Amino acid sequence: MSSESTGLSSQRENWGSRFGFIMAAAGSAIGLGNIWRFPYLVGKHGGAAFVLVYLILIAVVGSTVMMAEFAIGRASRKSTVGAFWVLSDTHSWTLVGWIATAAGGFIILSYYAVIGGWTIKYIIGSLTDLMPMAAEGKSGEVFSAFVSNSQEVVLYQVIFMALTMFIVSGGVGKGIERACKVMMPLLFLILIVLIVRSVTLTGAEKGLEYYLKPDFSKLSGESVLDALGQGFFSLSLGMSIMITYGSYISKEENLANCAGWIITADTLIALLAGLAIFPAAFAMGVEPGSGAGLTFITLPGVFAKMPFGNVFSALFFVLLFFAAITSSMSLFEVSVSHCIDDLKWTRKKSILIMGFLITLLGIPSALSLATTPEGNPAIAIAGKSFLDAMDIISNNVMMPLSAIFTCIFAGWAWYDSARKELTNQDTITFKLLPAWTVCVRFVAPVAIAVIFYMGLKW
Ligand code: PHE
Repeated sequence: MSSESTGLSSQRENWGSRFGFIMAAAGSAIGLGNIWRFPYLVGKHGGAAFVLVYLILIAVVGSTVMMAEFAIGRASRKSTVGAFWVLSDTHSWTLVGWIATAAGGFIILSYYAVIGGWTIKYIIGSLTDLMPMAAEGKSGEVFSAFVSNSQEVVLYQVIFMALTMFIVSGGVGKGIERACKVMMPLLFLILIVLIVRSVTLTGAEKGLEYYLKPDFSKLSGESVLDALGQGFFSLSLGMSIMITYGSYISKEENLANCAGWIITADTLIALLAGLAIFPAAFAMGVEPGSGAGLTFITLPGVFAKMPFGNVFSALFFVLLFFAAITSSMSLFEVSVSHCIDDLKWTRKKSILIMGFLITLLGIPSALSLATTPEGNPAIAIAGKSFLDAMDIISNNVMMPLSAIFTCIFAGWAWYDSARKELTNQDTITFKLLPAWTVCVRFVAPVAIAVIFYMGLKW
């Protein structure tokens, strides 16, 4: 029986296998961001030139923070709030744990589940009435009609949350790990099918050229900032996730090595997503954007022009669903493990109460995208839809704050123990330790502070 269900953290559950853990953490990292934002950024900022900048930044900053989070999680064997509490002398660091937990386990999940619900609606839609409408150029109307239908959006949000709750109720090994071990390889397979379809369309080369041809003249300061912000979001950093997942890693595992695998998988899938999207879009004469517009409006239009477009469209939304749900499991595990560890609730009680509260918080996001007669979002904060406002608060404010302080904690306040944790108590060598030390102390906090400052414009 899982120790989580009894709330005894002394017998904390571990991941079943290294492969399982890497699939689960990669499942968290690989999400909507990989599919609807990364390819767009690559196209916008000069193709391969941007990829190079992105790779350097995640290798230097992203991997540093990921290792710090794994070390904090594994050393404490607690979820984030408890981790900072037990590892710090003054306990004031616990505030960092609260910020990260509220951002990841609560706010992001509330609206992420709304979008997850849309993917379910679009899987069904692809096989029913979406394609005929999209073929007439009406995919925009289909999308606005859907997000304005309050009962339907909430229904799909609730279904998506219920599925997340169901999987997480199996615990870390039998729930999350097992689901990710099935869904992540399937996601990869679907992506390959979509790429083969996309690059074999007539005119696909134009998309490939736009996507990948290096153009260093398009690189700017903004490219660097975009790369860094995307890297953090994409690797699920600063949201308490990698600390929580780290708390289930066995003491023998090599943390640096695991981080390397997860980052490689995340980047590979992001790059491949562009190979599925750009050649198809250019072959069909559409210049793609990013975000919800690309996925729910532009791409259905692209699929509608292909033979068997309904099948490819359905496959694409299944892919998006897998990407979204494996990320939402990680977000939900953050709040569930917090309740188990710190409030001593059972897993079942934690899931029911937190699931209910998070769904409730998601409802204004779900309803916010309908438009008023004046063309404004139905529920808005300072002119942004409630969903966008939640996204900005969590990603542009809370995430960088928690990430900066996590680096300061691991690099200064708790450095000796962090070093020991990364070398498994000096039993394995971590050759890059000196480089990691410089990054965690100076490079990463400064880099994150810059994104933080730039992201503060509302
Ligand atoms: N990493 C996920 C993505 O790329 C999003 C995410 C962010 C998931 C933070 C969990 C936490 O879409």
